[in-house]
Amino acid sequence: MPSEVWGAQSCHPRYPLRVWCAPAVDRVKRMDDSVSDAYDTVAESYAALLPDTSAESAADLAAIAEFAELVRSTGGTTVMDVGCGTGRMIPTLLDHGLAVRGCDPSPGMLAVARRTHPDIRFDLGSLTEIPATDDALDGVFAWYSVIHTDPDSLGEVAAELGRVLVPGGVVVLAFQVGNESRLIENAYGHSGLALTAWTHRADRIARALEAAGFETLRSTERAPEGRERLPQGIVIARRAA
Ligand SMILES: C[S@@+](CC[C@H](N)C(=O)[O-])C[C@H]1O[C@@H](n2cnc3c(N)ncnc32)[C@H](O)[C@@H]1O
Repeated sequence: MPSEVWGAQSCHPRYPLRVWCAPAVDRVKRMDDSVSDAYDTVAESYAALLPDTSAESAADLAAIAEFAELVRSTGGTTVMDVGCGTGRMIPTLLDHGLAVRGCDPSPGMLAVARRTHPDIRFDLGSLTEIPATDDALDGVFAWYSVIHTDPDSLGEVAAELGRVLVPGGVVVLAFQVGNESRLIENAYGHSGLALTAWTHRADRIARALEAAGFETLRSTERAPEGRERLPQGIVIARRAA
């Protein structure tokens, strides 16, 4: 997924889901204010510039297929797209036979997601406050949503993932690779933003998950492709059964 664009309610009727709980709106909003405000601003342009997975590399799409197969191998299909944004990845997850819902801290991104996918349930939420009860999810899909998380907070994220996933449940995280953060003031055709983006190392994400009781199934970093300017990473891990 190109970092490079920086410059630039209802349950799904087909899928009976376990019990969900939505967090209080104010709580999530307070936690991610500057980030969610920025994404509120760019939501419509984001959807226009990145409408689908055409920016994803073949390797990324293969990793998503791998994740979906691992989820299905648990015997369940219930997945939360955490940091779903405009819901761009929802059709891909449905195509893989997953029963998907989404959450995001940005009401603006969620509004686009709900408009685009009226049959899918979307709630406010974040990686540290996933709107699901304990042991409710067979999979968590976190596609470039950890890019606004300070690496020092990865332990908190891993603990929350361990809370919501069933034993044996699977998580995938995609992110830009590096060891730094940057302040993004211009993105998706907008200026005057104040959005901090973090790069991560795959082994550090894997270590945080392992400390929370996960087994690492994949921890990869690859060179940039196409319009990407940074290396890209993917970690897939399974909660201990
Ligand atoms: C680059 S977009 C990716 C959106 C979507 N996953 C996609 O691939 O198109 C980053 C998304 O992560 C969300 N986000 C930011 N901080 C988050 C957090 N702490 N937890 C979950 N999502 C977050 C943003 O609101 C935004 O929608």
